[in-house]
Amino acid sequence: MTDTKFTPRVFSGIQPSGNLTLGNYLGAVRRFVEMQNTGIETIYCMVDLHAITVWQDPADLRQRTRELAAAYLACGLDPQKSILFNQSQVPAHAQLGWLLNCVTRLGWMNRMTQFKDKAGKNAEKMSLGLYAYPSLMAADILAYKATHVPVGEDQKQHVELTRDIANKFNHDYKVDFFPEPEPIIDGAGTRVMSLRDGTKKMSKSDPSDLSRINMMDDADTIAKKIRKAKTDPEPLPDNLDDLAGRPEARNLINIYAGISDQTPEAVIAQVAGQQFGQFKPLLADLAVAHLSPIADEMRRLMNDVTEIDRILGDGANRAAEIAEPILADAYDIVGFVRSR
Ligand code: TYM
Repeated sequence: MTDTKFTPRVFSGIQPSGNLTLGNYLGAVRRFVEMQNTGIETIYCMVDLHAITVWQDPADLRQRTRELAAAYLACGLDPQKSILFNQSQVPAHAQLGWLLNCVTRLGWMNRMTQFKDKAGKNAEKMSLGLYAYPSLMAADILAYKATHVPVGEDQKQHVELTRDIANKFNHDYKVDFFPEPEPIIDGAGTRVMSLRDGTKKMSKSDPSDLSRINMMDDADTIAKKIRKAKTDPEPLPDNLDDLAGRPEARNLINIYAGISDQTPEAVIAQVAGQQFGQFKPLLADLAVAHLSPIADEMRRLMNDVTEIDRILGDGANRAAEIAEPILADAYDIVGFVRSR
């Protein structure tokens, strides 16, 4: 169902739980910037409440939240055009999260692949927060009645769950209150893979730093990581079908396409027949030229933490102005007495 009665509004978020990676950039932040420039209202969050579902050192969390804010700004998000804030400054997320915990079914949560991946064999030792996490994510989106959610491929299941939760709330309370938001998963970089293993997602939590490009990496580090990226001995073919069974080669082509904003088809046509000895330096030059100015700007912004905090505080005020009336309506629908 596409909801036409809801004003289009974009919401997305990123966890300040590690270094921002090229995967986050191509899968999410670049899309955030594009959507900001379409004229739709855009709200982008640093989801610190989500980050603490696994242990975070408090000083690191504070630093990483500000670094993520610096990354948002350095990549082109504009606090005049988009609402930028950290989640914990807007209590409506946690408050609506509780309501939605009571709507969400355990059977739905048990199907969430990301929990299974993160918990592995240690599910008994994981926090209750990690398990409930997708329902808080639904609250993030629905607290703004957001209709569009730009994310990488790995978050698709969570946005689909958000649709189920919105639908059940509407059905149980016989209202047409929450929209069913659409995931926006677009472009060549929706699933950037590890540089060490083309079958695994590039992730901030991978123990090997060589597996990922961090947005703060300097030029030499980026070039070194690309040089060391796992590949195979075959030259590059002239079409994507012939990359079947070559996940590392496919990943480097996708990364090239993502950074240069082309389709993988266009890239493979340009580099057909090249050995990786030729292609890797091209990719390294492209990545360095594109990412170094962003890293420089992040470092510059991090010199003025007061200004970053001011932007986050202002964004939180504007976010709260939207979310609080929606939360109040949800409380009324549920039947809470509100008398102060
Ligand atoms: P997180 O912090 O893991 O990742 C942030 C965004 O980056 C995308 N992404 C990738 N895209 C392509 N290739 C990759 N290797 C890659 N790794 C990460 C993710 O898909 C995501 O879009 N649960 C979310 C954060 C969140 C959220 C929300 C998102 C909380 N509330 C509400 C949207 C709406 C998460 O952990 O993303």
